[in-house]
Amino acid sequence: MTFDTRQFRSALGGFPTGVAVITTITTEGEPVGITINSFSSVSLEPPLVLWSLVTTSPSLVHFALGRRHVIHVLAHDQEELATRFASRIPDKFSGIAHTIADDNIPRFDECVATFECTTRTLHEEGDHVIVIAHVEQIDQRARDPLLFCGGKFAVLDTALSNRG
Ligand SMILES: Cc1cc2nc3c(=O)[nH]c(=O)nc-3n(C[C@H](O)[C@H](O)[C@H](O)COP(=O)(O)O)c2cc1C
Repeated sequence: MTFDTRQFRSALGGFPTGVAVITTITTEGEPVGITINSFSSVSLEPPLVLWSLVTTSPSLVHFALGRRHVIHVLAHDQEELATRFASRIPDKFSGIAHTIADDNIPRFDECVATFECTTRTLHEEGDHVIVIAHVEQIDQRARDPLLFCGGKFAVLDTALSNRG
């Protein structure tokens, strides 16, 4: 190999992505939330998406086969959520506005899209686990997304939501 991890990460950062916070609950009912940008579509029929989580994450166990989770695609003004759920502070939900749905999984309002999912398969590859999730419910709003590129958050120069 002619590159190191830092160079690899830097090159990957040239691929702009959206940003999502994924929420679920532990078996004891405690809320769990993590920031990811590894989200991608997989299949339309059946509706499947994927995202990946580092194998060392203490949150990994909460996304085991059959566990429900909600993927929130963040809007341009939700950088605070992205930063909070990328941290390892003990109570990530403290002071963060959210609602608790019938399934007890925390939800955030005003996201670009939400995907209510169940973990269908898990594939360990290298230092990450790829989660393939079956989408059971979706919600969408005409809002501009938060972006991540070159290791920084960004927003669109021209608002999509104002276009006809
Ligand atoms: C924009 C952004 C995207 C991220 N994407 C991922 C990702 O796709 N997979 C991952 O494992 N960690 C990702 N992280 C790092 C996690 O959010 C961070 O490690 C967090 O602490 C995970 O929660 P945990 O401590 O409960 O594992 C990302 C962080 C940021 C700021």
